[in-house]
Amino acid sequence: MQEVWNAEFNKEDFLYGTEPNAFIKENASLLPKRSRVICLGEGEGRNALYLAKLGLKVEALDASDVGLQKLQKKALEQELAITIRHTLIENWKPHGTYDAILSSYMHLPKNEQREMFLKSFLALNEGGYFIAEFFSEHQLRQKSFGPKEIDLLYNICDIYSILKNLPCDIIKLSQEIIELAEGIGHRGKASVIRIIFQKLS
Ligand SMILES: C[S@@+](CC[C@H](N)C(=O)[O-])C[C@H]1O[C@@H](n2cnc3c(N)ncnc32)[C@H](O)[C@@H]1O
Repeated sequence: MQEVWNAEFNKEDFLYGTEPNAFIKENASLLPKRSRVICLGEGEGRNALYLAKLGLKVEALDASDVGLQKLQKKALEQELAITIRHTLIENWKPHGTYDAILSSYMHLPKNEQREMFLKSFLALNEGGYFIAEFFSEHQLRQKSFGPKEIDLLYNICDIYSILKNLPCDIIKLSQEIIELAEGIGHRGKASVIRIIFQKLS
């Protein structure tokens, strides 16, 4: 998996562009300046760079060292401090707790998705937010970009069955068809699941 993503990112251009994911950008206003946040499966770092520019204390986790090196280079050019966590999410040992955990398109096998949600929940401060956009299983029908195996896609009912047992407010959990224009990697119609939950105080 690391080799696959390293090969995807081993190019001059940024596969998903340098602008943040629109859903993450839209909801960044929930996070006050200096909030401590981590972006999971952050790849080449477009969300992390955007959030750092807003004045947040940002960490970026990913399995791909090539993606993270591109992020680090851009951060240095823009004089932004972003802490890199080069690890598989399944081996992630959070360094303390966070005011927000964000992710766009980190696609894990179904048997690891539940653990990712639970680990993220535990790593949030009380009142902290989880904000993410993932492709739904219906993305297979688009026959375009995104994972080609159903095992790597998300199912809104499965997510609800995990979140409903946690002490959190589910602020948003929706499945939507949207138009993506993110670099050359995500271009066209997509079926996504958008999630915002807040850990209760
Ligand atoms: C489709 S890319 C999205 C990158 C970035 N979030 C974005 O939207 O530009 C998926 C990313 O998830 C990372 N990833 C996939 N499985 C992972 C895992 N088990 N642990 C850590 N990172 C993972 C890949 O290395 C890759 O950078």
